[in-house]
Amino acid sequence: MDKRTLRYIALLRKMNPFLEGNVLDYGCGDGAMTSVFIPLNSTSNFFAYDGPETNGQNVQELLNQAKILLNKRARVIERKEDLPKEYFDTITLICMLHGNENIIEQCHPYLKKGGHLIVIDHDKKHLSDEEYIQSITDADRNEILQRSYNEVLRDHTKMDVYDCCRITRSMRLRTVKTLDHRTLEGFPFYLCVSEKN
Ligand SMILES: C[S@@+](CC[C@H](N)C(=O)[O-])C[C@H]1O[C@@H](n2cnc3c(N)ncnc32)[C@H](O)[C@@H]1O
Repeated sequence: MDKRTLRYIALLRKMNPFLEGNVLDYGCGDGAMTSVFIPLNSTSNFFAYDGPETNGQNVQELLNQAKILLNKRARVIERKEDLPKEYFDTITLICMLHGNENIIEQCHPYLKKGGHLIVIDHDKKHLSDEEYIQSITDADRNEILQRSYNEVLRDHTKMDVYDCCRITRSMRLRTVKTLDHRTLEGFPFYLCVSEKN
């Protein structure tokens, strides 16, 4: 495994203390990321959902891939109407908030009171042009191919952990833990865990 993947797994591990009970990966895409963090925690029941708003991708195709990849390890929920309200102890939003600022409002009804919302996203606002280019991963490259370099640049440098906290607090969620590129030795991601009162 390359260094960047190992660092990403180390970041995903930081979610572990907050993954409990029924865990929903909201916006799971093809389930690739969900399939990485499920094995890091064996005690939870995992669910995965991907929604109707995409960047030109066929959601049904993504969900079919997720069903194969997550087979027997997570239940893939295909329709928003089938998401039970106030049912999930944890909801994860992995690389979902940038460019989609109302996603927290959208998933909020499905989180139990006392449950945790975990946001992990790009933290690249502070990078120079050169540092940004060096930070581009294979996953970013795929996104650039589907959209455009400039759109991805705009979205990945749009928000930081403070922007995330501003949104979660406006939803009356209590911030429990934050990490960003400063606390992750320059790794350009942030993590924000908050609790629903
Ligand atoms: C950047 S991808 C992230 C996928 C995955 N979380 C990961 O980290 O690999 C964004 C995903 O969010 C989904 N999506 C976009 N808007 C959504 C919404 N309003 N509700 C649920 N899913 C959404 C898209 O279909 C896409 O699969």
